[in-house]
Amino acid sequence: MALLTVRKLVMEYDGRAVLDGIDLDLEEGELKVVMGPSGCGKSTLLRCLNRLLTPTSGQIIFRGEDVTRPDTDVRALRQRIGFVFQNFALYRHLTALENVTLGLRKLRGMAAAEAAERALHELRRMDMAEHQRKYPAQLSGGQKQRVAIARALAMDPAVLFFDEPTSALDPLMAREVVNVIGQLRRDKVSMLCVTHDLFLARSLGCRVLFLDQGQVQAEGEAEQLFGDHADPRIRAFFSQAVGGGEAAGR
Ligand SMILES: Nc1ncnc2c1ncn2[C@@H]1O[C@H](COP(=O)(O)OP(=O)(O)O)[C@@H](O)[C@H]1O
Ligand SMILES: [Mg+2]
Repeated sequence: MALLTVRKLVMEYDGRAVLDGIDLDLEEGELKVVMGPSGCGKSTLLRCLNRLLTPTSGQIIFRGEDVTRPDTDVRALRQRIGFVFQNFALYRHLTALENVTLGLRKLRGMAAAEAAERALHELRRMDMAEHQRKYPAQLSGGQKQRVAIARALAMDPAVLFFDEPTSALDPLMAREVVNVIGQLRRDKVSMLCVTHDLFLARSLGCRVLFLDQGQVQAEGEAEQLFGDHADPRIRAFFSQAVGGGEAAGR
């Protein structure tokens, strides 16, 4: 069964369709990347999928359940989706370990010892156990992102959503995050990653959707899209200097 099936998804802001009929499928254990220029609706898509936004129309089926229905338990849905943001969203006054245990204690009601054990397991997986007592200010950008990923994984989500996970990072740190996502992929973690970072998409070498003007303009293996595509807009986007960074995709 597909983890996520999206059909004809439309999201309008003030009568203007930012998403204009999106179809998307994510299988269990699959990694898919959604690319497209800034402002094309990538973040809007993720926010619709975890129901932070209510789509104007269309269907989102999450593990067989239509989560666009008005009676959907959106809190329960969001607890099944781990979210990783561009700016890490870590609490500055908490250590790496405390950032990971917080949700386990507050949302899952775990006892301190159990939460710490689970958090340490995920920090170890992210190769961050030795930094567990450090505060975010004492960590590099790549390390902060690895703590944020450990925090998301600790909640045992059905899927991880990444929104521009490398945009705030220099190329070396971006590579750290790419490696981690690659490792999670081998572990068969289901992941949906939106980005305009060409380097990220290309290094992961997975299936890529190209989103522009509210629609999926192309879908294929990364190398196919990075090749000499017939559509000039798609060719223009994917032929920009590889290396990611803020300039890419604009
Ligand atoms: N709350 C909002 N109200 C009105 N327009 C919005 C709102 N949020 C985003 N938009 C517009 O929707 C479009 C898509 O935004 P976004 O999903 O953030 O794009 P991306 O993540 O691809 O850069 C942009 O034109 C943006 O200005
Ligand atoms: Mg965005």
